[in-house]
Amino acid sequence: MVNSLHIGLIMDGNGRWATARHLPRTAGHLAGLKALKRVALGAIRNNVGYLTLYCFSTENWKRPKEEVDYLMGLFSEKVTGELPFFNDNGIRLLFLGDMFPLPSEAQEALHFVIEKTAANDRLIVQLAINYGGQDEICRAVNRALEKGISRITPDVIRSNFDNPEVPPVDIIARSAGEMRLSNFLIWDAAYAEFVSYEKLWPDWDEYDIVNIIKAFGQRNRKFGGLGK
Ligand code: FPP
Repeated sequence: MVNSLHIGLIMDGNGRWATARHLPRTAGHLAGLKALKRVALGAIRNNVGYLTLYCFSTENWKRPKEEVDYLMGLFSEKVTGELPFFNDNGIRLLFLGDMFPLPSEAQEALHFVIEKTAANDRLIVQLAINYGGQDEICRAVNRALEKGISRITPDVIRSNFDNPEVPPVDIIARSAGEMRLSNFLIWDAAYAEFVSYEKLWPDWDEYDIVNIIKAFGQRNRKFGGLGK
């Protein structure tokens, strides 16, 4: 059974982590993937229901080709390579974003793992790849128009998202001390909580997930009302 807490993660600082060690930026992304596995296990142990991971934004194509190619390689090889990890731990993967511009190997790998993990229900992980919040809203509006809906409301937009069954994010956490949303989950962020920690993403583990959960527990969510 899936629990309900939904955490969004902006995994920042891979490049800085690598540069501090005189390593290429790509080494930071590989270390970031290892951190991701520690964090996912921590999320499961602490009853988190959903993780949405900002892996590659609609703006990240501007990075050097070598780095983009490396990340696309991670999305195809590592995602399929980690299938036993996902299945052993009950992790179901979903894709969030516009998949069509991705290399065909990455698209095939992602479809494959999404299908092979579809029966898992301990933790739902949305991989946001070629994802942008503004793009997500535009795609939802276009989907609605294609269905012949002529009046756009917040419910129409939300129900035409890529994975409308996933509940809105409860808290967004960003590593490496940055304080921006950077086009991540901007629609559902309307009432989400936000935390930012100095630690660079490749150093994250279960401790950080516990901190996020604690921070969330201390917030008084008012949703525009008067709260508790
Ligand atoms: C931001 O750090 C991080 C990214 C753009 C990539 C995040 C991707 C991963 C952690 C790997 C995920 C892999 C799979 C298979 C799901 P940055 O490069 O902007 O760091 P900087 O700000 O220090 O330069």
